[in-house]
Amino acid sequence: VIERLETPDLAAAWCADRRAAVQTLGFVPTMGALHEGHLGLVRRAADENERVCVSVFVNPLQFNDPRDFERYPRDFTADADLLAANGCDMVFTGTLAEFFAGSEGDMERVARRDPGPAAASLEGEHRPGHFEGVATIVGRLFEVVEPDRAYFGLKDYQQSLVVTDVARAMAHAMNREIEVIACPTAREASGLARSSRNELLSAAQRTEAAAIHRALLAARDAWHAESVRDAAVLAARMRAVLEPTSLVVEYAELRDPEAWTAVQPAGPMERAVALVAARAGEVRLIDNVRLDGAARV
Ligand code: PAF
Repeated sequence: VIERLETPDLAAAWCADRRAAVQTLGFVPTMGALHEGHLGLVRRAADENERVCVSVFVNPLQFNDPRDFERYPRDFTADADLLAANGCDMVFTGTLAEFFAGSEGDMERVARRDPGPAAASLEGEHRPGHFEGVATIVGRLFEVVEPDRAYFGLKDYQQSLVVTDVARAMAHAMNREIEVIACPTAREASGLARSSRNELLSAAQRTEAAAIHRALLAARDAWHAESVRDAAVLAARMRAVLEPTSLVVEYAELRDPEAWTAVQPAGPMERAVALVAARAGEVRLIDNVRLDGAARV
């Protein structure tokens, strides 16, 4: 049976009890509208920890577009049922006012956390304030839960770098190491990365959106089959797949995953992750593929 807790204070007490019982705690932060991608993280957390908790909070601080926030799908009951069936012991939610005491639910009154260098460019540039919002809520969630391990999907590649930095920065203050585990992206049969926003796509848009993954694979093929190492050439391969479609490309770029830079590196790359953001109608989608085949970010 799953515990459903309605406030961060109740969740913090539940988590403190688990720590007192010396049980390892795995944590999966989410914004709900759960899909197979999230459930894979929950199952992995259940394999690797004695107890698992999940947060469901559509965090207004990380939406640079208010319409995106309003349209974001929400169904707490369905989410809790899926979590119960996938090894989660506790799910919690809360309001902005409950998460940030003193804010009285006013976003302007929430002190933001600096997301650090991984927030530079790409998502950070196209979604101003997004990573401040992510770092702020994730830092707060880490304070509430104090997990041993926290699980994130690699679809949000830059986010996984940002939250790793948040965990590192908090380790000293909390006297607790939180291991951030970035997990492979779950995909639909077409290759489209699973995302809560996929629910908002029409059937035709869903078909078009699969070109994002094909573009990433074109870069990966060029890396492996032709030994292309020049970022500009790899990016051009992605654009060649995306441009004939109706998708509106925001970026299709390369980065060194171990040395994040604001701009795409010039000259030959040793390691590379290819990242794309594109819009299908009003729905904004992101995806990425590591080209050099290393297991982790
Ligand atoms: O990836 C998400 O769903 C969100 O950015 C997160 C990590 C739950 C923070 O709100």
